[in-house]
Amino acid sequence: MSATLRVEERETHVLATLDRPEKRNAIDQELVDALHRLCARLEVERRTLILTGAGGSFAAGADIAQLRERRADDARAGINTRCFQRIRALPMPVIAVVDGYALGGGAELAYAADIRIGTPSLKIGNPETGLGIIAAAGATWRLPQLVGEPLAAEMLLTGRILGAEEALAAGLVSAVLEPAAALERAVELADRIAALDPAATQATKRALLAPADAHPALELEEQAVLFESEEKERRMTAFLERRGQGRSSAEAPDRAAERASSERTDAP
Ligand code: COA
Repeated sequence: MSATLRVEERETHVLATLDRPEKRNAIDQELVDALHRLCARLEVERRTLILTGAGGSFAAGADIAQLRERRADDARAGINTRCFQRIRALPMPVIAVVDGYALGGGAELAYAADIRIGTPSLKIGNPETGLGIIAAAGATWRLPQLVGEPLAAEMLLTGRILGAEEALAAGLVSAVLEPAAALERAVELADRIAALDPAATQATKRALLAPADAHPALELEEQAVLFESEEKERRMTAFLERRGQGRSSAEAPDRAAERASSERTDAP
């Protein structure tokens, strides 16, 4: 797909690895283009995405050599912003395994994920003001949602970088695991998601992404569609039939006795 974005097909997900380790996976135009191509595919195929970085870094930011050359029109075009918004809006969940440096645009790419898993070497934050620019690719609106306004303001206004423990305490990552275990955890989550109803998962993601004033009307409409779905009927019937079978001969004697006694207690 691209020399700097390795994309692997897996049974329950697509694994995409930023692979420019000699530049700490700094996000240049080629990577942005490759991420757009990946999004175009995942918008159609609707698969879970696991995003990670090679060589002990997630991404040390947008490519500063390219950033230095950009002008006002480039800023307005939102080169990274549009790309990360597209990743955020992917129909199925995005899980980021965030190892080592996740700085500037690299941090914003991680903020665009639905779930983040860190590693002990994590260093995450936004040093943009030190380079004479703002974090315009998501940090100013997404980071406050993730860690709350006070810490987000401190991070963005001072450029303070969080280590793994602090990121975990702030809820910026949901776990801190050694790199191989972090990837394994992400795969376990993708496997879990694959066992759920994809339509319900996508509706949940749309509800999570919706603006505050869209609730609860949006949820009710999503639910209205799902209440009519064959998959809901099938899944709920399977649940009720499993319980029905549990009540018959297959049930362990002590469980049956326990149920009989609770049913007696429940009786009017
Ligand atoms: N853009 C472009 N190149 C970058 C980069 C970035 N954001 N981050 C790292 N690189 C490059 C370095 O220029 C260097 O390239 P070179 O070997 O051709 O000189 C290479 O990656 C390795 O970086 P180096 O600084 O030698 O590695 P390190 O392990 O000592 O330090 C960092 C790693 C991440 C602390 C340091 O590279 C850094 O501060 N990067 C910039 C972070 C930043 O400000 N990001 C926000 C951008 S919006």
